[in-house]
Amino acid sequence: MNTAAKLEIDGKVHTLPVVEGTEQERGIDIATLRTHTGCITLDDGYGNTGSCLSKITFIDGEKGVLRYRGIPIEELAQQSSFIETAYLIIYGHLPTRRELQHFSDLLTQNENLHEDMKYHFEGFPSTAHPMAILSSMINASSCFYPGLMGRWNPARFDVHTARLISQVRTIAAFSYRKSHGLPVIYPKPTHKYTANFLHMMFSEPYLEYELKPEVVRALDLIFLLHADHEQNCSTATVRMVASSQANLFACAAAGVCALWGPLHGGANQAVIEMLEEIHRSGDDGSRFIEAAKDKNSGKRLMGFGHRVYKNYDPRAKIIKQACDSLFRALHVSDPLLEIAQRLEAAALHDSYFLERKLYPNVDFYSGIMMRAVGIPTEMFTVIFAIGRMPGWIANFREIMDDPHSRIYRPRQVYTGPALNRYVPIEDRAEPAKA
Ligand code: CMC
Repeated sequence: MNTAAKLEIDGKVHTLPVVEGTEQERGIDIATLRTHTGCITLDDGYGNTGSCLSKITFIDGEKGVLRYRGIPIEELAQQSSFIETAYLIIYGHLPTRRELQHFSDLLTQNENLHEDMKYHFEGFPSTAHPMAILSSMINASSCFYPGLMGRWNPARFDVHTARLISQVRTIAAFSYRKSHGLPVIYPKPTHKYTANFLHMMFSEPYLEYELKPEVVRALDLIFLLHADHEQNCSTATVRMVASSQANLFACAAAGVCALWGPLHGGANQAVIEMLEEIHRSGDDGSRFIEAAKDKNSGKRLMGFGHRVYKNYDPRAKIIKQACDSLFRALHVSDPLLEIAQRLEAAALHDSYFLERKLYPNVDFYSGIMMRAVGIPTEMFTVIFAIGRMPGWIANFREIMDDPHSRIYRPRQVYTGPALNRYVPIEDRAEPAKA
């Protein structure tokens, strides 16, 4: 196996070390390339850029493999819970009973927001998107915990972590209640994580929400499947912000903003909007498939395609099965599920999608499952953010624990004007009218 790569520039050969990961994936270390050659590498969209070494999550996009700390996602989906998986991702091992109890107690002790935080919710218009509220409120929370500021203190990591994981769920539920003009419901210390979220979302002061085990399990699974996904846009953002030594809450708030876009976490909302549009228009899906293939239509088959997976996303497989089981258990049906199944079947036989290796991703069926659970569409990406919190925290910690960590600062190839001179305003010509 080569441990070095050779690169020829201007007739001179340069040797670059090759770094190999646990699963034999290889990266050419170009850290000293510019010093020795004056050149940088250019990789628009970072499609081929390894930005770090990481021990958290492994993905083989060609084979459709996803593992958290080495454990296949299928095993975790079947046997674990979101909170146990969160522990695994953050601390690197499956917790013992005692460790899990301690983690769970910390989550319960930290589930309430500082009472003054409630006033912040008043300032948002009722039309505010919950992702805007979530990112603002996570950032605002850091004001209430001065211990977060200053130098990284590993001794306080456990409590800050528990606070963030627990409170992001409380903020999410409060923002939903506020935006619907409903009174906020406080967390119940006797409920477990996911049941507590459903309680805060759907209980009323005069009527307790009836928790159905299959609904709790379905939402817990959605959180678990979203818990980490190596260097995606939002996680890379969290690492970018953490590299400047910003505090954990500031990094998580930045992660929420990056997640919001429809090409990333916002795709789950976009999938449902697409399915609703197809349903409303009476299309059987074939017109939309044709539009998604036409680059001028401005449409894409949302929930399809992935930068890393060139095969079926393993999370999509699990969600699809779980979705079927949930619908059976609740004795419900949804016309959008049928449309999604038709779209998938059509796309999987269409050369456009096959040639580009576009398969369903995690977002294709997760929205349909969330609808069945009763989560409103505008909250879908918030659910993704709650689920992704352990991954962001684990990546934050990798940066903070690394004594050699440096600020992230990519370079660019400048293509603007060459040396230009400042022209005083009185000498500037108005552009000619068209
Ligand atoms: N529908 C139609 N065509 C597509 C789609 C799609 N969903 N996705 C990619 N393509 C085409 C694209 O037009 C391009 O075609 P061509 O080679 O002819 O120019 C080719 O496939 C490669 O696409 P790309 O945009 O260069 O791929 P990317 O790696 O930059 O983007 C993606 C990945 C996920 C942003 C993209 O597939 C997409 O926009 N999918 C729909 C949005 C979506 O479902 N996002 C959720 C991603 S999974 C969860 C997450 O990460 O948050």
